[in-house]
Amino acid sequence: MPTHRIHYAVFSSAADLPAPDQELLAAATAALGHSYSPYSNFKVAAAARLEDGTVVTGWNTENASYPMCLCAEPATLAAAASLRPGMAVVSMAITVKSAQQVVGSPASPCGACRQQLLEHETRFGKPMQLILRGETGPVYVFASAGELLPFGFSGAML
Ligand code: THU
Repeated sequence: MPTHRIHYAVFSSAADLPAPDQELLAAATAALGHSYSPYSNFKVAAAARLEDGTVVTGWNTENASYPMCLCAEPATLAAAASLRPGMAVVSMAITVKSAQQVVGSPASPCGACRQQLLEHETRFGKPMQLILRGETGPVYVFASAGELLPFGFSGAML
């Protein structure tokens, strides 16, 4: 039977990450305070590093009409596109904070977010490293967004 393996690195704490990744994660953590999430009380924030080194942050923004919620990841991609049109995001850190519990395992982008991260990566032809962390605990680092979405939908099918 064909098998698909997902490759990622595990760091037991954020302090073990290389300095630039620690900085990106710290920027995402600081951005959690901007999250507008009065319905879920679940904050998500991301920090993206662009090719020129610029760091851009984004967060989830909810709506009383729940399906209209905007996830942190596409919000961050849109912020990056607005600030530096046509420039690739080469790394993104994503973290969360829940009012209900301490999230001790890495935040994992939802399926729709993965598809959007994959589109960005494919469009620019550059891998986007993903750095995932909960509120505490280990950090998972994926070398590319595609690693998180095997068999993702591709424009090549259109
Ligand atoms: N959320 C994100 O921002 N990104 C994800 O990948 C998953 C979920 C947000 C949407 C909503 O505001 C809250 O988390 C709870 O689902």
